Amino acid sequence: MTVTQLEKRIIWISLAFALVLLGLSALAINLFHVGLPTCLTDIKPFQKGELITHSPTHYELHYVARMWKFEPENVTVPAGSIVDIYLSASAKPGPPPAAEPTHPGYKLLDANTCLTCHSIDGQPGIGPTLKGIHGRTQKLADGSTVTVDSAFIREKILHPNAKIIAGRFEQEMPKTDLTREEIEEIVEYIQTLK
Ligand code: HEC
Repeated sequence: MTVTQLEKRIIWISLAFALVLLGLSALAINLFHVGLPTCLTDIKPFQKGELITHSPTHYELHYVARMWKFEPENVTVPAGSIVDIYLSASAKPGPPPAAEPTHPGYKLLDANTCLTCHSIDGQPGIGPTLKGIHGRTQKLADGSTVTVDSAFIREKILHPNAKIIAGRFEQEMPKTDLTREEIEEIVEYIQTLK
């Protein structure tokens, strides 16, 4: 392999450029006292965020960065204070996600898109949550009231538009074809959502 004249020139220019940059950095450090952060060896990794008060104007902040979360979330110190910030990333897992219910009724709700409109934990959605509905007295759109028992839930699945819950809902509940047994599993499961 031969190095052409042009390549030689490019190499020299790059070298000169790198040297100039190095020189400028050295100048900046000396002239403007630009400090480069040093590696601290006496600070151990920490798992918990906290604000340590050294004096009323001097604080030490231990900040833990996690996925989607920082700890402490907010820190307030008097204006003009000196704060030494120490950062630590933590891979500490949060609480494990709640295990998916194993009830066959849950699996049917999931498989038949009921869960796209209904939550089982109280969260509002396109339709009302299914949590705690069993045994409740429910107002209907026509002004009457019903007790949400297994018969009502069964009927709601078989004929979604026969009795409509009072309230403003953006979508109608669709009819889902399910077998008698499947409906019973679902009714039984909804009863367990207290
Ligand atoms: C497209 C959204 C949607 C889907 C999918 C859906 N629903 Fe609904 N559901 C609603 C809405 C909206 C209401 C409230 C208005 C009404 O009564 O029709 C409702 C009401 C209910 C109620 C009465 C709730 C109460 O507070 O008493 C039950 C029970 C119910 N749905 C069960 C189911 C089941 C079981 C499935 C699946 C087979 C299902 N829904 C699928 C939208 C949906």
